[in-house]
Amino acid sequence: MSHLANADLQRLLAAARSARAQAYVPYSHFAVGAAVLDEQGRVHAGCNVENASYPQGWCAEASALAAMVLAGGRRATAVLVAGPGPATTTPCGGCRQKLREFGDDTLVVIAADPGGIRHTWTLGQLLPESFGPEALAAGQQHSHP
Ligand code: THU
Repeated sequence: MSHLANADLQRLLAAARSARAQAYVPYSHFAVGAAVLDEQGRVHAGCNVENASYPQGWCAEASALAAMVLAGGRRATAVLVAGPGPATTTPCGGCRQKLREFGDDTLVVIAADPGGIRHTWTLGQLLPESFGPEALAAGQQHSHP
């Protein structure tokens, strides 16, 4: 697992908690905040945003990644997801793939709740044998007209 400095861990935790407080969750009442650390050491946060047409809502991780991209970040080295507890809030399958776009198997994924850090994985553990941008680039070299 790539190293994550304790100072960065604390920055991620604070940002994800602040974002969680802004979650728009009138349907599930399940507030989630996420914060990503980019390749420049910057932190970008987001919350889940639900919708009256339920499937149109999106996750906190997606919001945080969008904030990172908007700020010019292109690589994520760590993500912290802050859920309500007591059950661990892990990134959903779709978000694991979204994270894969901007990180590799070493991306650090941290789950937290109001009590603190609960669990740490790598993206490689959560999404093994994943399909990422490099696979697409490799395929294009062999593409048919
Ligand atoms: N949710 C997230 O934002 N991130 C996760 O990692 C898990 C689930 C949201 C989606 C939905 O708004 C609510 O939590 C309940 O599923």
